[in-house]
Amino acid sequence: MTDLSQPAGAAQSQATPDGVAPPLWLLAELTYRCPLHCAFCYNPVDYTDHSRELSTEQWIGVLREARALGAAQLGFSGGEPLVRDDLEVLVGEARKLGFYTNLITSGVGLTDKRLGDLKAAGLDHIQLSFQDSTQELNDFLSSTRTFDLKQRVAASIKRHGFPMVLNCVLHRYNLPHVDKIIDMALAMGAEYLELANTQYYGWAHRNEAQLMPTREQLEEAEAVVERYRRTQGERCKIFFVVPDYFERRPKRCMNGWGAVFLGVAPDGAALPCHAARSLPGLVLPNVKETPLREIWYESDAFNRFRGLAWMKEPCRSCDEKERDLGGCRCQAYLLTGDAANADPVCDKSPSHDAVVSVVNMARRAAAAGEAREQPILFRNDTNSRKLASNASAASVAASGDTGSHGGTGG
Ligand code: FES
Repeated sequence: MTDLSQPAGAAQSQATPDGVAPPLWLLAELTYRCPLHCAFCYNPVDYTDHSRELSTEQWIGVLREARALGAAQLGFSGGEPLVRDDLEVLVGEARKLGFYTNLITSGVGLTDKRLGDLKAAGLDHIQLSFQDSTQELNDFLSSTRTFDLKQRVAASIKRHGFPMVLNCVLHRYNLPHVDKIIDMALAMGAEYLELANTQYYGWAHRNEAQLMPTREQLEEAEAVVERYRRTQGERCKIFFVVPDYFERRPKRCMNGWGAVFLGVAPDGAALPCHAARSLPGLVLPNVKETPLREIWYESDAFNRFRGLAWMKEPCRSCDEKERDLGGCRCQAYLLTGDAANADPVCDKSPSHDAVVSVVNMARRAAAAGEAREQPILFRNDTNSRKLASNASAASVAASGDTGSHGGTGG
């Protein structure tokens, strides 16, 4: 297994402003606090270990540094960013700096007053999440009663004149409702509908056995989406993102590690991808201690998988490596135990069977009926603390010492 705690020699040499493009997209994960408890959340399962949040001034510093670096798109995310009462101040600062801003929200806390204030502060865009078109499933999957509230929030977003993206994460439970979800988006006047099949990191990975759909479910849903695209035209642009477990070539994850995406977690850890915290031994630099320019161009974390030099076989000699850049590092780690391996979604990977067996497991589970399923593990503080303490006990047992471990979780 590749030791991520050691600096990457070959990749380090690329770390100059001359050879590396600046980031385009800053994702500000303002907080891990969230009123919802979604089973497919991509936040780290040990998020309660990283809950010390940056102050307003520290976030303003991050926005200024990121804009000076060249970032142009800014997403405010979380957890639920509306939990922060300085969101309007941060949006106002982002507007002054010239960012295009997007609020990624569950809608909980998005009152008319806050919508008006966010509009006045210059917010460009809102992405509102739903879990399903039915109250029953929406509320079950988020472990909250929020369906009616989300309906009201969607209407308010339209009244305030924001372009609206509805987002619905898809999986085994709600794929059969795709037609109803599209009907709901059309009725709400959404300009865009993002039907994003679950990506299996964080909490979703823990619930993989319960959430993974069958190939038939996916194909049927895709056919429904195609039908709506034909009949509805440009009225609502529908995106359907297929889960890569069902592909034979991996996705170009994050459009390349350290290529365009720069995330900042609530505690100031800088993230080359949403799930980078899951990679053990990868020491994430923190914006409280290191200037963003240095983080982007010089840190080991951002250089570790940048470009092609880090690749092992079969990626190294593959004629498709420039297209997919070896796929997803976090998926490679989760399924093979080594983040430097080829993404096992690729059927050239010697570990491709790991993906096939998950897909086959979903087919068997569907054939056997829901009764065989285990309970879903919802994202909440109690479960997070339990998982973090289990992981830390396992890591102490594996290392044979009792010292604390720094850097990333996992
Ligand atoms: Fe981390 Fe794909 S999610 S590289």
